[in-house]
Amino acid sequence: MEEIKIKRSGPLRGSVHVPGDKSISHRAVMLGAVAEGTSRISGFLTGEDSVNTARALAAMGVEIEGMGGTELVVHGVGLRGLKTPGGALDLGNSGTSMRLMSGLLCAQKFPVTLTGDQYLCKRPMTRIVKPLSMMGAIISGRGEKNYPPLEIKACGKLKGINYSSPIASAQVKSAILLAGLYAEGTTTVTEPMKSRDHTERMLRYMGVELKEQLKADGHSVSISGGQRLSARDFAVPGDLSSAAFLMVAAAIVPGSKVTIKDVGINPTRTGIIDILRMMGARITVDNVREDGPEPIADITIERSELHAVEIGGDLFLRAIDEFPIICIAAAAAHGTTVIKDAAELRVKESDRIAAMAGELAKIGVKVVETTDGMIIHGGSPVHAAEVNSHGDHRVAMSLAVAGLIADGGEMVINDTECINTSFPGFVELLESLK
Ligand code: S3P
Repeated sequence: MEEIKIKRSGPLRGSVHVPGDKSISHRAVMLGAVAEGTSRISGFLTGEDSVNTARALAAMGVEIEGMGGTELVVHGVGLRGLKTPGGALDLGNSGTSMRLMSGLLCAQKFPVTLTGDQYLCKRPMTRIVKPLSMMGAIISGRGEKNYPPLEIKACGKLKGINYSSPIASAQVKSAILLAGLYAEGTTTVTEPMKSRDHTERMLRYMGVELKEQLKADGHSVSISGGQRLSARDFAVPGDLSSAAFLMVAAAIVPGSKVTIKDVGINPTRTGIIDILRMMGARITVDNVREDGPEPIADITIERSELHAVEIGGDLFLRAIDEFPIICIAAAAAHGTTVIKDAAELRVKESDRIAAMAGELAKIGVKVVETTDGMIIHGGSPVHAAEVNSHGDHRVAMSLAVAGLIADGGEMVINDTECINTSFPGFVELLESLK
């Protein structure tokens, strides 16, 4: 198993690009595959998660040139052009891939099995099995929580539904909207708060009409079935969730100033910028532009004294994937940071609340784990120790960033292959800033 060793660092300085956005890469290749015509995707994430999505589509007869690289040419087969794959589709560690792919595949006229690694096979799929079944799909996993592998049987027809999701989840929303493309009538999904909207933006970019509405019980999106997608060329922005590790590193390592260029700043994702600013970080967002469906910008962040904050609700939803690195910012900040409304973190790539509480304690940070979040008493020195990623890429990278300010030798992070799922070249990029 791979390990990373990081010791206290001098100033981080420079201007860099981070790999393409993971959420957007999945959607670009998936929607390109069922569009009519050829889409050229640049800046595609070469991490394992998005490559697994592309491979699964190739296994269903979609011709994809440039597989494994950042420039893909996807020859769309249209909504009805996917073919039976030779065997089960292995989606590795990727929950997004499994949930979105389920939406797309539950409407096909062939059966398919979706599986993944040991971590993905412990993630609950009832959240998508339930609404997709209501639409007429025949889909099930193991046990009450429908753990993967997921078995999808050939389907005659789907019907549109009006579904109110108990959780705000882009994966659930997207799975339902993708199935809705194939359904008879209109499909509406309502969520308590608006989750990331990359699917909606990309569908519209490819010519699909959607209706959005703010309602008393939340935010809803409707799609009518039978709409076709037109192929479009598309540049994937840098992943703000990857940039977040460098942003926090620059905020906490004395003397640092780092610019991350061409990063996605979709407002449903920019909670990390707001949170770091609330903590006192000096951040500028320049060169804002919208070239395609997603806004992008250059983000510069300088070291400053951080102070504790309270985070929950909509703000936290807009930073849902940044919890592990926010924990590190909170550990370096003066005062007590409270994170709440974050129970979803227990079913991410790991139980991120338990994982971070355990690892932070090992490096001398005082924390209290709560059912839906964490209380972090910051401002004391961070000590180097041997720590574990729990097989979770974001936990691994967050602990590496903590190593940059640790005293007492090297921080050793175990089990770090998982970083390749979202941020290939993370360690090298961090080193290049020293
Ligand atoms: C994602 C949605 C979020 C996020 C995940 C990626 C997506 O999950 O945590 O990393 O690309 O749709 P939920 O939709 O389950 O909240």
